[in-house]
Amino acid sequence: MSTLPIKLRLRFYGDASLRRKAKPVAKVTEKEMAILAEMAQIMRLAGGVGLAAPQVGINRQIIVIDIGEGPRVFINPKIFKRLGCDTKEEGCLSLPGVFLSVKRAKKITVTALNEKNEAVTLSADNLLARVIQHEMDHLKGKLLVDHANIFKKIELKRKLRALLKHKKEVL
Ligand code: NI
Repeated sequence: MSTLPIKLRLRFYGDASLRRKAKPVAKVTEKEMAILAEMAQIMRLAGGVGLAAPQVGINRQIIVIDIGEGPRVFINPKIFKRLGCDTKEEGCLSLPGVFLSVKRAKKITVTALNEKNEAVTLSADNLLARVIQHEMDHLKGKLLVDHANIFKKIELKRKLRALLKHKKEVL
C-alpha cells in the first residue's frame, strides 16, 4: 500500500459530503491506494464492516468492506443482478446509535474495479450483499435514515437532532 500522506476523518450525519453524489474513479493510482489504506484503517478503528469514500469527505466511488474475511475493495461498483429480498437491521459509522431495519436484495452480482485497477465481477449474498448495497447508497448521497418509514422517522428525530448538535460542537 502507498504511504502518500492523506489525512482523512470520519464524517457524521449533517456533514454535506455525505449528501453528494460520488464521481467515478478514472484510474486507480497511488492516490486512490493511499485513500483506500486510510479508509481501511478508519473502518477498522471504528469497528465497522464497510466504509464509503463520502464518509471520509472524498467525493469518489470508492468502498472498502471487511465482514471478517479480510478487506475487499470496490471502485465504481455497479449491481447488474439482484435476487430475492431480505430485511435486517443495519447501523452506519456516520450515524452512531442509529439502527434501522432495511429491505435489500438477498443476492447481488456486482462489477467493480479492484485496487489493482482490474475489473472484477462478484456474486455476493446475505451480509456481504447487504453491506455492498449499504455502501453503494453512500455513493448516491443516500443514508440509512432515508430508508425509515414515517413512524421510524418520528422515533429517530431526537437522536438525529442530537447528532446534528454534537456535530456543531465538534466544528
Ligand atoms: Ni453507512
